[in-house]
Amino acid sequence: MQAAFKDNHGLQCGFCTPGMVMAGLEIVRRHGPNVSAETIAHDLEGNLCRCTGYQNIIAAIGAGAKAMGGKSNA
Ligand code: FES
Repeated sequence: MQAAFKDNHGLQCGFCTPGMVMAGLEIVRRHGPNVSAETIAHDLEGNLCRCTGYQNIIAAIGAGAKAMGGKSNA
């Protein structure tokens, strides 16, 4: 998941990033490797980012989910 954030430019200042990565892991645990962008966006509700506009965060979590194959401890 951390590599997916780096590869997909899922952060700018990095302030929100630890929480986004942890939320991403929970999203994978709950929804598996083929989670939709809409579900990721919904489940990130309450995790605020003042920099990115969320597009790259959503892309990063989707890529991380696929790379992890649904294993939330990877
Ligand atoms: S990257 Fe700056 S708050 Fe999210």
